[in-house]
Amino acid sequence: RLVYVLNGPNLNLLGKRQPHIYGHVTLADVEAECRELAGELKLDLRFHQSNREYEIIDWIHAAREEAGGIVINPAAFTHTSVAILDALNTFEPPVVEVHISNVHKREAFRHHSYVSLRADGVIAGFGTQGYSLALQRVARLIDEKAA
Ligand code: DQA
Repeated sequence: RLVYVLNGPNLNLLGKRQPHIYGHVTLADVEAECRELAGELKLDLRFHQSNREYEIIDWIHAAREEAGGIVINPAAFTHTSVAILDALNTFEPPVVEVHISNVHKREAFRHHSYVSLRADGVIAGFGTQGYSLALQRVARLIDEKAA
C-alpha cells in the first residue's frame, strides 16, 4: 500500500506563487496533510516535486517497482508532456491526476491534458484539498483490487 505523490514544475513555490489562483498553502503543508491522511488510510507515501521532466519520469519508473498507485499533479507538463503520458502508460495500478486550480476555467491551453489519457480520475479546482481526495480515491481503488 505504497502511493507516490508526484508534483511538477513551479509547485515548489506553492503558497508564494500566484496565491489568488493557487492559495497560500505551501507544498510542505500539502505533504504534511497527505502524510496525516495516509496514516489514517494505512498507506505509505513517497512525496516528490521536481522542475525537471526526467525526474518525474524516473519516479514513475521507480513506482513501477513498488507502488500501488500514483497521485500526480504534473503542473505545466500536463499540457505538454507526451513523455510523462508514456511513462504513466507503463504503470498498471491506479493513477489520479490533480490540479489545484480549475484548469477548465482558465486559458484554453490548460484545457487539454496528455496525462488525462491515462488517469483513472481527475480532480481540478478543489484547491489543495484535491490531494486528500485523490489519496482517498487511490486507497479505495487499491482496496477494490484486493477484494
Ligand atoms: C496546475 C494547473 C496547470 O495548468 C499549471 O501549469 C500548474 C498547476 C494546478 O495545480 O492547478 O502549474 O497543475
